[in-house]
Amino acid sequence: MAGPMRTIEEPRAMQQWAIEQRRAGKSVGFVPTMGALHDGHLSLVRRCRAENDCCVVSVFVNPAQFGRGEDFERYPRDVERDTELLQIQGTDVLFLPTAETMYPPGFSTRVEEKVLSKVLCGASRPGHFRGVTTVVLKLFNLVQPTRAYFGQKDAQQARVIQQMARDLAVPVEIVILPTVREPDGLAMSSRNAYLEAGERREAAILYESLEWARKAIDKGERSADTIVCGIRERIAAKSTVRVDYVSAVDFETLQEIQRLRGTVLIALAAFFGTTRLIDNVLIRVSSTEE
Ligand code: PAJ
Repeated sequence: MAGPMRTIEEPRAMQQWAIEQRRAGKSVGFVPTMGALHDGHLSLVRRCRAENDCCVVSVFVNPAQFGRGEDFERYPRDVERDTELLQIQGTDVLFLPTAETMYPPGFSTRVEEKVLSKVLCGASRPGHFRGVTTVVLKLFNLVQPTRAYFGQKDAQQARVIQQMARDLAVPVEIVILPTVREPDGLAMSSRNAYLEAGERREAAILYESLEWARKAIDKGERSADTIVCGIRERIAAKSTVRVDYVSAVDFETLQEIQRLRGTVLIALAAFFGTTRLIDNVLIRVSSTEE
């Protein structure tokens, strides 16, 4: 679709628009976001535009996925800038609901994936993924997407949503796209804005340590322990960082493995002061070298 971008705030109006498009035989691509958009988000929007007849982007800082004491209040918000960026990308609809319309009085349903969501970030942030799956299923029902786009940056989130869609027979194709990085390797994130100059400099260690792991595995290392300890040591050498977790898991099950084989996700989370950053690499381990 061409023409100016429409902003829709009302969930009902969003759903009406989406139903009309689908009735007219058009494919709808969807990129859910919490705004403060950067090139990582925009890479999803570009792909969404290219692969579908229309492209919907939602901006909604979802209170249900933030825990007590987390950064819901201070999460960066800049709707004007987001609107401009989305217009430039040729977005058809910006869906901009409010917490009041998404969670009206009496809202009492939760959607919970019970296995994949319990490990990694789910262990550190209880309730987080329940908030994510609840809002994403509601967004899917409002936007009726043919395809929905997620970043590998949040690999566990993408897997949990894929699983939810599979389990609940949601008729959507989940597309996962690569992590977009800053020149020094730091994964783009709306939360990078919280970092002080010294923390920002040291934050590059997250990706550096993951790249060290990739190279070690390329050279034949197959012990998860060796890889995880090596990453921890490298991060610990930086004074502003505290590791939350480092883990090597099977990408399908998200369960920890001892010997690296198949498609392995090496994922980590670390605190810089109160700022929690995550990153990961996906490695296809060749079995011939085992
Ligand atoms: P948010 O953090 O705004 O991210 C929106 C989408 O952008 C997610 O799919 C995320 O993985 C992707 N993304 C973020 N940084 C990226 C990067 N550097 N490279 C590639 N993709 C990147 O994730 C959420 O919002 C929320 O949990 C949401 C799914 C919208 C539900 O509220």
